[in-house]
Amino acid sequence: MNERDWDKVADSFEQEIFNVPENDTKGIIRNWVDSLAVPGAEATDLGCGVGRTLPMLADRYAQVYAVDVSSQCLEVAEKANPGRRNITYVHADVSADKNGYPATDVVLCINTWLNASIEIREGLIDRTCKGVKKGGHLLLVVPSLNSTLLTAYRHLQWNLRDGMDPQEAQKAAALNSKGLEHGIVRIDDVPTKHYLREELEALLTDRGFQVLDIEKIEYPWTTEFDAPPKWMKAPYPWDWFVAARRAR
Ligand SMILES: C[S@@+](CC[C@H](N)C(=O)[O-])C[C@H]1O[C@@H](n2cnc3c(N)ncnc32)[C@H](O)[C@@H]1O
Repeated sequence: MNERDWDKVADSFEQEIFNVPENDTKGIIRNWVDSLAVPGAEATDLGCGVGRTLPMLADRYAQVYAVDVSSQCLEVAEKANPGRRNITYVHADVSADKNGYPATDVVLCINTWLNASIEIREGLIDRTCKGVKKGGHLLLVVPSLNSTLLTAYRHLQWNLRDGMDPQEAQKAAALNSKGLEHGIVRIDDVPTKHYLREELEALLTDRGFQVLDIEKIEYPWTTEFDAPPKWMKAPYPWDWFVAARRAR
């Protein structure tokens, strides 16, 4: 999705865009945000959307930069956070150079590295990493490719249990996914980048980060299927959460 697409969803963001922080029932993101919030520290919410995580950051950090490519999303975020004077709103394309925000101690980046275009995504990843001060931390959430494959397996399992012919069952559970080998899977018909745990470790290490923690933020099966059957329990679908320290 590009700037215009994100602008278009700004008014219906809560209905259309899955709310990761609200569904982080174990508080993985909040615990890391808390543990890094030393007096005077500054944070960036990179791809802040309509500002779901801005109150959490603004309550704990001296200064917060709310950065997004969508001016419409920023407008909604600003309206939702009146009186929080330590938030600076920045309209910027993180995949491009010369953006008007400084590197900060903590960068929170929730489901922003989604673009299916390699050129745009590489820019996004590089500049997200450069947005972290040396010695600072990146707190990242991205879609999991492993989770998507598990969902496809659950779909197949469901079809088989319903008595479908095995070949038909497999066909019906197939992913509509040109580019699967590079982690591109369609979500609501939008080609979306998904990540392997090992890929995240490699790309962050390459960019001078030490990975401190990788965890699953798990969700119920209702996030993947309308009315999933009762037998469909753990393992559940998930996004990857990563905490990494910029060493160089
Ligand atoms: C899935 S939403 C997540 C929003 C928010 N982090 C949340 O968890 O609610 C992705 C956000 O990333 C922003 N985004 C995508 N590409 C971007 C880019 N190149 N530069 C800045 N923001 C970008 C979009 O405008 C959108 O608000």
